Amino acid sequence: MKILYFTSTGNNLYIAKQLGGELLSIPQLIKENIYDFEDDSIGIIFPVFYVNAPKIVREFIEKANFKTDYFFLIASYGSDGDQNAFKILKKTFKKKGLEVNYTNSVLMVDNYLPMFDMKEEKEIKDDSEIDNQIKVIKSDLSQERSSTLRKDPFLTFHS
Ligand SMILES: Cc1cc2nc3c(=O)[nH]c(=O)nc-3n(C[C@H](O)[C@H](O)[C@H](O)COP(=O)(O)O)c2cc1C
Repeated sequence: MKILYFTSTGNNLYIAKQLGGELLSIPQLIKENIYDFEDDSIGIIFPVFYVNAPKIVREFIEKANFKTDYFFLIASYGSDGDQNAFKILKKTFKKKGLEVNYTNSVLMVDNYLPMFDMKEEKEIKDDSEIDNQIKVIKSDLSQERSSTLRKDPFLTFHS
């Protein structure tokens, strides 16, 4: 399993490490001009930025080639927008002739500082709940489950 990840403050690196496999940093891959990937299963892990995947991730995906039987997308987000990000990326992959087999997301501390207070966020988002969400994803991936169902244990928006 190859996991290609992008992280700004470490949330997605945390998820990637828990899921295991071969971890590849997207900025590093871009720097090294590596765009071809082949494995039994390949996934991309990214934070939601402005209700979308970050531009660096979208541009990387446009250029990259993936050869795999099982392809998954995992997003971390702080309040909303993960489903929109998946929707947009799925269209990109469809154009590439690649089916996304599994998507899921992890609600984590929101690091968008203009809107969220980190101290409050850390109090609201329970570490063990975050780990539980990651455990579910890990189990799904090990069974190569096809699922686009969202498991959202928090279901609360906060401002
Ligand atoms: C510039 C910026 C924009 C963001 N936009 C959103 C958003 O639209 N929706 C959301 O739920 N979280 C948003 N977030 C929060 C991140 O998606 C969330 O904190 C994520 O877990 C960060 O992961 P990272 O530490 O791996 O970068 C944003 C964060 C930043 C810095």
